[in-house]
Amino acid sequence: MSVVGWTNIGELCTADPTLGEGQLGIVRDAALVAVDGRVAWIGLAAEFPDVDIAHDMGGAAVLPGFVDAHMHPVFAGDRAAEFDARMTGTPYSAGGIRTTVAATRAASEEQLAANAARLAAEALRQGTTTLEAKSGYGLTVEDERRSLVAAGTVTDETTFLGAHVVPAEYADRPDDYVDLVCGAMLDACAPHARWADVFIERGAFDVDQARRILEAAKVRGLGLRAHANQLTQGAGVRLAVEMGAASVDHCTHLGDDDIEALASSGTVATLVPGAEFSTRSTYAPARRLLDAGVTVAIASDCNPGSSYTTSMPLMVALAVREMGLSPAEAVWAATAGGAASLQRDDVGVIAPGRRADIIGLGAPSHVHLAYRPGVPLVSRVWRAAASV
Ligand code: NIG
Ligand code: FE
Repeated sequence: MSVVGWTNIGELCTADPTLGEGQLGIVRDAALVAVDGRVAWIGLAAEFPDVDIAHDMGGAAVLPGFVDAHMHPVFAGDRAAEFDARMTGTPYSAGGIRTTVAATRAASEEQLAANAARLAAEALRQGTTTLEAKSGYGLTVEDERRSLVAAGTVTDETTFLGAHVVPAEYADRPDDYVDLVCGAMLDACAPHARWADVFIERGAFDVDQARRILEAAKVRGLGLRAHANQLTQGAGVRLAVEMGAASVDHCTHLGDDDIEALASSGTVATLVPGAEFSTRSTYAPARRLLDAGVTVAIASDCNPGSSYTTSMPLMVALAVREMGLSPAEAVWAATAGGAASLQRDDVGVIAPGRRADIIGLGAPSHVHLAYRPGVPLVSRVWRAAASV
């Protein structure tokens, strides 16, 4: 039995409101014990028991590891030139995805896995202890299958995104591509994926195509996610809710009917402020979603086109500064909210029974994540109580 403890925690943010003050369930002057990688006890530093290994946090803030529920880390190349052009006026469009598809097809499986590992390590250094990883830059049966194998080397939260965009070779017969996705591609990919996702958007897949793809994925036992209402106010959010998706992501352009549909469902709205930042978009109406009672997560959307960052601290800062969340709401959305988006009850919260995924800040409060943007405040990271 391994007993690890953390003490002299100035501000313990559990992300469980039943365990302390406010939405973040804050306990001050706190201590924490994990047994065999799981949280076993939360209390006051004055009552810290004997442990095998003790970490003195010196009055710093301690949070759950971030749960990044939306990443695209399996690709090759980059699109710095596209970003450069965008910053001087060229608008973002779904078509840029095809540039990364060409580079990804030309890369070996080892190169794809190495790039995913590089990004997962970069995320971990910034406090991300659980991440989701999508395919979606292969768009052939074999390139999607090997993308998911590469994704599976960095996480169990693998997502099939063969319906990211219609590849160039199917440009004049998109329904044939949808047939391929629903048939041979899902047959080859479903064994390597937990989730299926569709980019529902002008220039990608329409609602009828998305419904067929999500139905085919559901039949194979995959959980459902969707990219919807990123660039236009279409019917994607309502379709995802109707189909019982765990999460609908982006949600940048929403009408009242979309918000009502989300509020009366169990679908999480996973917002990706990094994409809005890097495409000079307006931000998702996070305040309206929260006020309507929708469960909101925030995620990095790390990908080479619209959001080439792995930084969850940056997402917290953007959610606060640009979307009107309080720092506590933003940290909750980046931890417990991400866990809800992935339907995980073992991570995202520091509570007895949960995995001891813990980050220590070089700061006394979670507020500093938004107050000191761009500063590397995540100073220590543990996964299952082991230092990483
Ligand atoms: O989530 N929206 C679709 N997919 C990505 C962008 C992919 C790309 O531009 O390469 C996103 O923003
Ligand atoms: Fe995305």
